[in-house]
Amino acid sequence: MALLDHHKIIEKNATLLLVFSFLVVTIGGIVQIAPLFYLENTIEKVEGMRPYTPLELTGRDIYVREGCYTCHSQMIRPMRDEVERYGHYSLAAESMYDHPFQWGSKRTGPDLARVGGRYSDEWHIDHLVNPQSVVPESIMPGYGFLLNRPIDAKYIEDRLVADRRVGVPYSDEMLAEARADFVAQADPDADGSDLEERYPGAQQRNFDRQPGVTEMDALIAYLQVLGTMVDFSTFQPDQHR
Ligand code: HEC
Repeated sequence: MALLDHHKIIEKNATLLLVFSFLVVTIGGIVQIAPLFYLENTIEKVEGMRPYTPLELTGRDIYVREGCYTCHSQMIRPMRDEVERYGHYSLAAESMYDHPFQWGSKRTGPDLARVGGRYSDEWHIDHLVNPQSVVPESIMPGYGFLLNRPIDAKYIEDRLVADRRVGVPYSDEMLAEARADFVAQADPDADGSDLEERYPGAQQRNFDRQPGVTEMDALIAYLQVLGTMVDFSTFQPDQHR
């Protein structure tokens, strides 16, 4: 009972209560935060992850510009309903090159973390031009204007530099060849061996099926790579933790 009697003092003295509450929260905070400073790496390294190609990165910028994230998340939670619908739960490493990340919690439309390879380019073109033509009950707006917006790679090198400053490992060679890689990825007739060497698994084709490089090419190149970099048929989660 003696202990509870002491507690009465705190309950009757607002200042003392505040001081002790602050102490408790501080200790709790330190216990949570301090270990993070001593861990060498909070993101488990995963085979297959590579920085986005210049074209994919441009598509990602268009995705952000158009606010696709206001309706679509990109994080599959490790819960059964999500894993059965969308595929393997998202790994931290899968968004390590995303600045800013696109996790989100607003799902007016489905999660897009693993939409890469799920549909053909033609489906994406039809869907982006007029979503209701392929999904009649869809409430997604159309983005057909992307087909009429040619893009060049004028600022692409600076764009890669910006990501490099926040830790994306773009090499000097990747910067120097950024324009060439940008053009080569959307051109099925270009020699893609350099692109493949710098960005393993990069898909090379005319994504929007019309001449020239448009914003539609870039956006579809981005959508088709989402969730495809890690091979989950061989992936083994790190056991020691
Ligand atoms: C107003 C909310 C909204 C916005 C904004 C939006 N979408 Fe959607 N999206 C939806 C809904 C709802 C669906 C499900 C019905 C359908 O397939 O159209 C969907 C479906 C999709 C799908 C098919 C996913 C699947 O697994 O079937 C893709 C891909 C997609 N959206 C891409 C985009 C992109 C890219 C943008 C930005 C250019 C965008 N969406 C903007 C609401 C939205």
